[in-house]
Amino acid sequence: MTEEDIDRAWWKEAVVYQIYPRSFNDTDGDGIGDLPGIVEKVDYLDELGVDVVWLNPVYESPDADNGYDIADYRSIDPQYGDMEVWETLLAELHDRDMRLIMDLVVNHTSDEHEWFLRSREREEPYDDYYYWADGVPPSSGSDAGTGDAAGDPPNNWSSFFEETAWTYDEERGQYYLHLFDRKQPDLNWRNPDVREEVYDMMTWWLEKGIDGFRMDVINLISKTEGLPDGDPDAGMTGDEHFVSGPEFQSYLDEMVDRTVGNYDVMTVGEMVGVDAEEAREYVGESGLSMLIHFEHMGVDTGDGGKWDVTDLDLLELKEVVTDWQEQLADDGWNCLYLSNHDQPRAVSRFGDDGDYRRESAKMLATFLFTLQGTPFVFQGQEIGMTNAAFESPDDIRDVEAANFVDRALDSDEFDSYEEVRPLIESRSRDNARTPMQWTDGENAGFTEGEPWIHVNENRDEVNVDAARADDESVWHYYRELIDRREERDVFVYGDYELLLPDHPDVFAYRRTLEDDALLVACNFSGEEQAVGLPEPAGGVERVIGNYPESGELPGDAVLRPYEARVWGY
Ligand code: NOJ
Repeated sequence: MTEEDIDRAWWKEAVVYQIYPRSFNDTDGDGIGDLPGIVEKVDYLDELGVDVVWLNPVYESPDADNGYDIADYRSIDPQYGDMEVWETLLAELHDRDMRLIMDLVVNHTSDEHEWFLRSREREEPYDDYYYWADGVPPSSGSDAGTGDAAGDPPNNWSSFFEETAWTYDEERGQYYLHLFDRKQPDLNWRNPDVREEVYDMMTWWLEKGIDGFRMDVINLISKTEGLPDGDPDAGMTGDEHFVSGPEFQSYLDEMVDRTVGNYDVMTVGEMVGVDAEEAREYVGESGLSMLIHFEHMGVDTGDGGKWDVTDLDLLELKEVVTDWQEQLADDGWNCLYLSNHDQPRAVSRFGDDGDYRRESAKMLATFLFTLQGTPFVFQGQEIGMTNAAFESPDDIRDVEAANFVDRALDSDEFDSYEEVRPLIESRSRDNARTPMQWTDGENAGFTEGEPWIHVNENRDEVNVDAARADDESVWHYYRELIDRREERDVFVYGDYELLLPDHPDVFAYRRTLEDDALLVACNFSGEEQAVGLPEPAGGVERVIGNYPESGELPGDAVLRPYEARVWGY
């Protein structure tokens, strides 16, 4: 890559900050974060130096899945504020040259959305806005149906949150499809009226001046015609019929063409089960800006999926990251993330949230900011927030985790919550959703009321006030990384080349852009690691690192526990 070949875009050079409004900052004392609370913190975001805010859903919702079950796409849920305060937020961000991207959840709605309520009544034109189907005669020994009238579910597909993807609706006398919770019925994208409704709604938001969308599970919108049974031996039954389904590419093209393609916006598609090669079909020239994939989120899980917890396999992480870096090097772009509202805290997961919390949080930040792509920082990551304790099932708020605990306790594998607890504390989405820790005061300064989910007990030590007052904090390190990245194009656009491919504990690579280069080495272990990195003839200079400079050259560097070093030359 040369300076001349660079295909610049504002969203490539940006750093994104993700806000989970429910847990960010509460101003009215109801224990739930709100939009005025975000407005209050706009200066904080500006000082941190981020460029784009991604707001998780704030639309009207019964909150079966914390806003991912939308009852009205064009409204703000009163618990968060109203359209006026949302407009204030947009204006305050724009005034400071920051941008706002909204969550677009159009694979499904809430079962309380007007479309569903009318569809259930078979009212036109809503009759087939969703996937409705009759039950099938119960198979012998089956207990999946809800009685004779219902029959068994129409096919064997499973849901991400429940065993079956079908729920029987007494009123309509049919089953409806939901790939997530039963309160999240899937929209029927085969129906052109549904697509028109979605495009109209997207345009309505774009015209309000937003700067893009993060598109929730967007590659689930197309389902195989006829909804046939799936392979019962597949990881998730039915996924060959709904993950990047037959019409997905054409729906995506149509959506881009009709909506976001006509604006200078950032589009981030969340896509399950997509590898880097397939990603090339959806991002880049005339597609989406980038996509959120899950491949690197599988490097510490076994074949059993999310709850099958294993140690981090760094060699696998290298393989996945390198593949994405290489496949999207010329066309397309990477979304870089280690944390979000669906994942446990990265410092607990890939680092050490005990003795080396600070070092490992900074090491992971270095890793995130020195790959090619746009870094996404999830609220609290910039102060090294950690996973939390969930002492009893009553502390759990997330529908996915709650369903998992129920299933686990029904199975023969677990006898008590104490046995399931380590899995919850290591993987539950609630780990990311405990309130943002602003101060060491009551409820970490998040609310003056009763927080909707408990505050992490380490708030005394881990909080924004303390981090800002301490020059050596994770927070100041993030600020520095953001500055460094702005100063040198090589951070954003430089080519990536993996070094030390077989080192089991150190992730090292080189980034190059014409005659500028960076050498990055990140120690993912709590032990010292000797590395022999190539030494450029003209010598190197230190760019950034999470320990005081050691003076060693790359060739004979010994990395300290969780040390990250970046040299330039
Ligand atoms: C992905 C979202 O990030 C997650 O929070 C949500 O539960 C599912 N999609 C369903 O909308």
